[in-house]
Amino acid sequence: MCGIFAYLNYNVGRERRYILEVLLNGLRRLEYRGYDSSGIAIDSDTSSVTQSKSKPYDTAPPVVFRQEGKIESLVSSVYTEVDQLNLDLEKTFLVHAGIAHTRWATHGVPAPRNSHPQSSGEFDEFLVVHNGIITNYEVLKQTLVRHGFTFESDTDTEVIPKLAKFVFDKARDGEGGVTFSQVVTEVMRQLEGAYALIFKSPHYPNELIACKRGSTLLLGVNELGGETSRHLFHDVKALTANDKPKELFFSSDLCAIVEHTKNYAAIEDNEIVHIKDGSVSILKFNYEKEKPASVQRALSVLEMEVEQIKKGDFDHFMKKEIHEQPDSLTTSMRGRLKDGVVGLGGLKDHMRTIRRSRRIIFIGCGTSYHAALAARPIMEELTDIPVTMEIASDMLDRKALIFKEDTAVFVSQSGETADTLLALEYALQHGALCVGVTNTVGSTLARKTHCGVHINAGCEIGVASTKAYTCQIVVMVMMALAIGSDKMSTLAQREAIIAGLTKLPEKVHDVLKLDGEMKALAQSLIDEQSLLMFGRGNNYATALEGALKVKEVALMHSEGMLAGEMKHGPLALVDEYLPIIVIATRDDSFSKQQSVIQQLHARKGRLIVMCSEGDASLVCPDGRSRVIEVPRVVDCLQPIINIIPMQLLAYHLTVLRGYNVDQPRNLAKSVTTQ
Ligand code: AGP
Repeated sequence: MCGIFAYLNYNVGRERRYILEVLLNGLRRLEYRGYDSSGIAIDSDTSSVTQSKSKPYDTAPPVVFRQEGKIESLVSSVYTEVDQLNLDLEKTFLVHAGIAHTRWATHGVPAPRNSHPQSSGEFDEFLVVHNGIITNYEVLKQTLVRHGFTFESDTDTEVIPKLAKFVFDKARDGEGGVTFSQVVTEVMRQLEGAYALIFKSPHYPNELIACKRGSTLLLGVNELGGETSRHLFHDVKALTANDKPKELFFSSDLCAIVEHTKNYAAIEDNEIVHIKDGSVSILKFNYEKEKPASVQRALSVLEMEVEQIKKGDFDHFMKKEIHEQPDSLTTSMRGRLKDGVVGLGGLKDHMRTIRRSRRIIFIGCGTSYHAALAARPIMEELTDIPVTMEIASDMLDRKALIFKEDTAVFVSQSGETADTLLALEYALQHGALCVGVTNTVGSTLARKTHCGVHINAGCEIGVASTKAYTCQIVVMVMMALAIGSDKMSTLAQREAIIAGLTKLPEKVHDVLKLDGEMKALAQSLIDEQSLLMFGRGNNYATALEGALKVKEVALMHSEGMLAGEMKHGPLALVDEYLPIIVIATRDDSFSKQQSVIQQLHARKGRLIVMCSEGDASLVCPDGRSRVIEVPRVVDCLQPIINIIPMQLLAYHLTVLRGYNVDQPRNLAKSVTTQ
């Protein structure tokens, strides 16, 4: 996954230094999406850039900065190059269009030549930043090479600016004039794959064009000197008419927009957004038609606070997000639990179909899959519908059987994960009712499912998913309550769960007090090579998720295992050195876990036992093992409590081992390739 960003100021003077900072700051906000290379493009001063050949346009050529590594490497190289190029940082632009990109390499190693903006070639006649994948780039490249283009990068993206130049040159050689949106429309006609793109061109100074198919793209509008009207706008008129000073933004994520404006529009697939003379027109691309039609769009108001995207008093986003869980869970439940009844507006119209389904299939990847696994027991118990689990990639590999009588529930924090989206396409083709559970409003998952529930966990920036995990479980427990609400036999159980949900944020607040204890535990494990976690029943998912957190950020081998499987193999690993965490909080499986602990003790296992408050002597009668005592809640909510010490352990292990917590090696926030 990559991040794209653009900033255009209109009728308001902005110094070059300010423009650079807005672009670089936008990239800092998007850095969690990809952090192996980055780049930006701004305008130069005609006088400051010396060129031997005369350029094919009258305006100042763009300057492009690209760098390998984190955004801060780009920042230092930008200012060094600005000096070398003699660019005046104080020069004020009344109107200016800049674009920016942070990359997570898919085609070509992280290197300046593979970083974006990618260029059409000499004179940078067209520059493009891209999030997504162009699947037919090889065919396009061959065609362009035949027409004399030479390629400098290994990216799929480079075909796009070159194609734009090809279209532009052809149109100019013919009848003459061609608009920027005509060029982009023709480019879009040729592209296959998933993408969000932003184009900048000196042939169209102070204009920007963005378009998308698949990947998320947002437009932010900040009208200065007065409230932004939230009336429908379309075409050039509505925003040009006032000619007011304004700032316009494109971004892959609202995180990069929220500090500038709360007025935004989610761009839909096949839309082309053209900013010209400070006004915005949105066009709908259609393969059948030569000209795209104009569309109307209302601005939405962003319900996100700037604080959400800042670390505040915390050293890392992961720690902040772990500690935010009492609040994120409250927000997730807000307005959905009224008078002992669960109301999920997004599912209401489909409830009958869900209740009649032959089975429910939970589908996701990584942490989202684990969240679904944690919710599976209660979903089966309250609905009496069999629930099966599918890891999205495996479902596709096996071409798993899926029927129109199935309800397929897709779980994804980002709503952009390629495997999950492909599994969604597959389920849609097979006629299943598709339900989305996601944190990302406007994401592909949210748009393509028949119905769904937003988890409302707030912006999650740390690559390791923490607060989204617990909110996903809460949302799926609420789904189970809503689907099963027609059964009298489970009324008392449902009431107990609803009471438990109401008290949950307070209990999470209590378990967070284990922070210091988990740091001490991390200190004792800092030099270990391996860590095992055993769980069962409601907490099998906790073992898998706890182990994933440790391997993901602390870069330590760790395995989550079903405790019932211990004697069928893993027991051979047990000795007095290998640390093993056993989750043995109170529920139906408690006595079985006590017996697991005994067997591990008999093999001299080095145990760390998680138990309910007051149970230390029951799980560790001889006082030899380390014990983590956590508050007890209703069984189906216990995984939410139990994962928190594991999140804290992973966090502290990572910091103590000296690794990057928020941007772990080789991982990006969401995986948009298969
Ligand atoms: C979570 O810590 C991981 N980074 C990863 O397993 C993640 O949950 C997975 O890639 C799925 O992402 P999604 O929830 O955005 O679909």
